[in-house]
Amino acid sequence: MRDNGPVNHADQDAPETSRDDRSPSDAAAGQHAGAGKGSRLYPRVTSFRSRRGSLTGPQQSAWDRMWPKIGRDVGDDLLDTTSWFGREAPLILEIGSGTGTATAAMAKAEPHVNLIAVEVYRPGLAQLLQLVERNQIPNVRVLRGDAVEVLEHMVAPESLTGVRVFFPDPWPKARHHKRRLLQAPTFALIASRLKPGGVLHVATDHAEYAEAIREAGDAEPLLTELDWESPITHERPVTKFEGKAHQVGSTITDLIWGKIK
Ligand SMILES: C[S@@+](CC[C@H](N)C(=O)[O-])C[C@H]1O[C@@H](n2cnc3c(N)ncnc32)[C@H](O)[C@@H]1O
Repeated sequence: MRDNGPVNHADQDAPETSRDDRSPSDAAAGQHAGAGKGSRLYPRVTSFRSRRGSLTGPQQSAWDRMWPKIGRDVGDDLLDTTSWFGREAPLILEIGSGTGTATAAMAKAEPHVNLIAVEVYRPGLAQLLQLVERNQIPNVRVLRGDAVEVLEHMVAPESLTGVRVFFPDPWPKARHHKRRLLQAPTFALIASRLKPGGVLHVATDHAEYAEAIREAGDAEPLLTELDWESPITHERPVTKFEGKAHQVGSTITDLIWGKIK
């Protein structure tokens, strides 16, 4: 099994940046599952590292045209998704959309849903904006920033039909496990934002992380095995990241839970 860390993070041993090293469970006490706006007073370790990345000329042009129409920075205000999308429809949140390959393809395949992609990496978002513009995909909106903040502040409880987390950074070294996005507090937060009957779909190519994710998801009381018809598709296009995983022979694990009805 490959054990080479987050694909997009060049140096896992670099000093950590803006936030402290409190454990996710410490942070959860102040932050997760319905905590209020003040929760940012309790800093936590993030699941991503700050990365610089400049846009190519075409990416910048697409950004200038598309960002004002369908992009927003993460903030404190609850999203009014009906007005943002211009319609009411089942809402799916994709966390860590990367270059947006899956986002764009799935939005095209599911024209009846409203899809929000959250990503911290601007060049990745720019590539998604290019795909959306080129293919004239009407049902995608993008948020730039930390998905945990999105879930805490911008998404109302029991408002999401689906949450997708495809190939979250595995942070394979034990001393970095605290950085993993999918731990008990995040499961609790995601579960609180899903509608009853809504679905969480996770995919990973990292065997040990897959087991940790399975354990944490199974332990979340609001999540259960999906034994009803899923309101979202589980078919994923092969993402850029997944393509690399296939090349080195990694096994892909898909994990799916439903929010108790
Ligand atoms: C390994 S990549 C996978 C990208 C994409 N899902 C794919 O399959 O190609 C993980 C992505 O998650 C993003 N990410 C990690 N933590 C995040 C967070 N808390 N909020 C938003 N994005 C995050 C990273 O910037 C990175 O682009």
